[in-house]
Amino acid sequence: MEVPRICDTKPCTVELEPGVHWWCSCGLSGHQPFCDGSHKGTGLPPKKIVVDKPTLVNLCNCKRTKNPPYCDGSHADLAGG
Ligand code: FES
Repeated sequence: MEVPRICDTKPCTVELEPGVHWWCSCGLSGHQPFCDGSHKGTGLPPKKIVVDKPTLVNLCNCKRTKNPPYCDGSHADLAGG
């Protein structure tokens, strides 16, 4: 399994519309923080998010969270604290 690419060292706060969304876990998508299919061959598939109403979420952009797709503060280690 490859190590994901770090897109940013801070999370992305977005309001998700009701429905299905795919969070990019590999870091290669050009449509961050969402999947655009770039993960093919990396062994790092996207994570499915389903919401039934508009929902504000804090999505991980460093791709090092232990609680994907959500930021868990792990980016602080990458940003130098
Ligand atoms: S952005 Fe990845 S843990 Fe916060």
